[in-house]
Amino acid sequence: MLNIALPKGRLGESVLEKFARAGYVFPKLESGDRRLVIPSVSQNASFFLVKPSDVPVYVEYGVADVGVAGRDVLMESGADVYELIDLEIGKCRIAVAGKKDFSDDTDRLLRVATKFPNVAKRYFAARNRDIEVIPLHGSIEIAPILGLTDVIVDIVETGKTLRENGLDVLFDIADVSARLIANKPASKFKSDEVSALVRALTEDMKNA
Ligand code: PRP
Repeated sequence: MLNIALPKGRLGESVLEKFARAGYVFPKLESGDRRLVIPSVSQNASFFLVKPSDVPVYVEYGVADVGVAGRDVLMESGADVYELIDLEIGKCRIAVAGKKDFSDDTDRLLRVATKFPNVAKRYFAARNRDIEVIPLHGSIEIAPILGLTDVIVDIVETGKTLRENGLDVLFDIADVSARLIANKPASKFKSDEVSALVRALTEDMKNA
């Protein structure tokens, strides 16, 4: 029996569809359902839904044997887990964005709003640009519009949010997609179950 940590929300829905096609079928949750741990119909796994950024924590500490997390979340968390496969869903990119007429005044600290402080710090440190990170938890695009920061480091999927707020991508940082990750000891002790899941998901992707 595999314990699987999955991200709540949009990504979680496509992950559950992908797992179902691979033979890991979970019952559809009704909106009033408050169960936290859900066994699969086929009894080969159970899953729990958590905040996307918490998935690597559950996997690193072994509460979940495997999990699904975006590359953005993994880059930010630095969790000590194995990254097994690219599930090729939840595709987007992480980028620096700002007002279309942004020009960097290198005499000043660059103020950066983001949900990804570690990613932002690493990106600008590699370019020798000193920054001040302003951590936010949502609606990041509003920060440069209201003058809280010069730029943002955020997820861009369709680009609609940026466009509708007069912002633009200034620099790309990385392409993002969902990854299957595994707890290191579980990859040994449950290697048959983990390999079976990897095989089933890979097979499904080949046939897609
Ligand atoms: C994410 C991200 C952007 C938006 C990008 O926010 O932080 O705001 O989606 O998508 P787009 O390029 O297709 O417009 P999310 O919807 O997760 O909400 P949040 O603002 O609460 O983080």
